Amino acid sequence: MTRDLTELADLAVKAARAAGELLLERRTGPLEVHTKSSATDVVSDADRAAEDTVRSTIAAARPDDAVLGEESGAHSGSSGLGWVVDPLDGTVNYLYGRADWAVSVAVEDAEQVLAAAVYVPPRGEMYQATRGGGAYRDGVRLTANDPREIGQAMLATGFSYDARRRGEQGRLIASVLPTVRDVRRAGSAAVDIVDVAAGLADAFYEDDLNHWDVAGANLVAQEAGAVVGVGTGRSGPPTQAVLVAGRTLYPQFADVLGFTGERLR
Ligand code: IPD
Ligand code: CA
Ligand code: CA
Repeated sequence: MTRDLTELADLAVKAARAAGELLLERRTGPLEVHTKSSATDVVSDADRAAEDTVRSTIAAARPDDAVLGEESGAHSGSSGLGWVVDPLDGTVNYLYGRADWAVSVAVEDAEQVLAAAVYVPPRGEMYQATRGGGAYRDGVRLTANDPREIGQAMLATGFSYDARRRGEQGRLIASVLPTVRDVRRAGSAAVDIVDVAAGLADAFYEDDLNHWDVAGANLVAQEAGAVVGVGTGRSGPPTQAVLVAGRTLYPQFADVLGFTGERLR
């Protein structure tokens, strides 16, 4: 089976678009909502239906690939490629009728993400990237903002569903606030990171993230010239922390955040 990166990206786009259209349609209807890790961590039947759509689109074209989806877990494959799916990143925004939410679909081998699509339906924007092939929004090549001084930088961030962690995360961001232009908490890590790729923010930092939140958007940011670092957060028991910023800005943020993560290649 092919490993052509453009074909993989096209499939990611097809699956993300199909799920996004379903989410747009269901947004106005009654939704069944359940809690997950905490009272504020929710999943709706729309999240699950969107994940089913992504899975069936991928399975129809590539039945031998593995899939890791936020809502239905890991399904193994035999091809050496695996898909990483967040069917709705920004569920709380979606439930409130806000605009920052996305469908994220990435495909990786044992080492790295190879191709990805991040669809932001309320904005009608499709972000896509292939490793080594650049990052695009609706066909237009993206370049992250750089150089930037940290004092002129807008930092996007997010907070955990775990109440104790949120306090720690808030203290860290408060300590950085006097150093930066401003801070934004939009409610979707995937949208935050593609915003860095497109120059709508200068940097992104969050800890307590899952692979599916960031797998697709991180490749889009890398291919837009940003540095992506993955490390361990300090807001509680070790979880994944991610810093994304342009080349000159990245070390400045790593310094003020005390972030020692490894830069993705
Ligand atoms: C969440 C969003 C949010 C981030 C959380 C994520 P979900 O994903 O990306 O911005 O702060 O850490 O869990 O639950 O909406 O898929
Ligand atoms: Ca998510
Ligand atoms: Ca989600």
